[in-house]
Amino acid sequence: MKIGILTGGGDCPGLNAVISSVARRSWDHGHELLGFTYGWRGVIEDDTIPLTRDNVRGIMREGGTILRSSGENPAHGGDRPKRVMETIERHGVDALVVIGGEGTMKGALTMHREHGLPVVGVPKTIDNDLPGTELTVGFDSALAIATEALDRLATTAESHDRVMVCEVMGRTAGWLAMYAGIAGGADVILLPEMAMTVEEASDIITRRHGQGRDSSLIVVGEGYNLHSSTGLFEGHEIEHELDAYGYPRLGGVSHHVARAVEQITGFETRVTILGHVQRGGPPTARDRALASRFGFLAADLVHEGNFGQLAAQVGRDVMAVPLEQTEGDARVIPEDVFEFVRSFMG
Ligand code: F6P
Repeated sequence: MKIGILTGGGDCPGLNAVISSVARRSWDHGHELLGFTYGWRGVIEDDTIPLTRDNVRGIMREGGTILRSSGENPAHGGDRPKRVMETIERHGVDALVVIGGEGTMKGALTMHREHGLPVVGVPKTIDNDLPGTELTVGFDSALAIATEALDRLATTAESHDRVMVCEVMGRTAGWLAMYAGIAGGADVILLPEMAMTVEEASDIITRRHGQGRDSSLIVVGEGYNLHSSTGLFEGHEIEHELDAYGYPRLGGVSHHVARAVEQITGFETRVTILGHVQRGGPPTARDRALASRFGFLAADLVHEGNFGQLAAQVGRDVMAVPLEQTEGDARVIPEDVFEFVRSFMG
């Protein structure tokens, strides 16, 4: 078989580890690989690179993606699906392994369902919000970076008696904020899913400092909407520009949180927005392991001709689930977890 492979959407550590794992297993099965560059764009525009033992060797530990990435997508319509099918035919590609998040999987599903393209998906995103899987490649690495950042912010906060507000990525899902906040010992964790007010957050800080603490850490998920019980701090919502693919460019809510907390508590406050630092650099061992398991399974699914599937983490198992499970709303933190998060605050 000739197997195409692409990485779409926002990059993350661990993509190269998936590529490497799919390649090794597919070669073991006697198949040939072809890389498409810049995600679906490479398939639409027929932009390929050969994947050989030479250019795949040693990439497991490297961040980014040797295939490059973009948000271009056949699900955006027009003549894109037709061009995808033409490229696939031109190269004699028998199956496509699609590594991506929600948008990229939407493309995979559209092409599979409506055009019969034989696809297998592998989930990645630092947001960990793809429905159908409990874990995505990249999340663990981003979490490690955010946690380390909090460890560093804690010591400088202590030296200056400051409140540090640290904003992490994650879009509408608070997984990164929640686990980084807990692991990094944050005193307040503001999640997009949880309507916690800045007054409540400030009360926690004031109480702590009343008990003899002189510094505090606040973690904010970038998708948090500022809530204010007094109404004093509302109307500070940010107008987010849309990116080229129609997604809001999040980032910046931490400035509003910091201003409100400083005004209410009177404590000196500073802001750190971690941004794309969370997506760069080498993957953690855990992400390499997850990527390897997903890649191995994806290659086997292709070999067996079991298409329209996603390599997924379900409970303790890595298994195939129908790609349809990736449809629908982002996988966010359920309400019954809020009490758990609260128990770590203060
Ligand atoms: O979906 C991954 C993610 O890193 C989000 O956490 C973040 O909001 C977004 O992508 C940033 O996108 P871009 O790289 O286009 O700025």
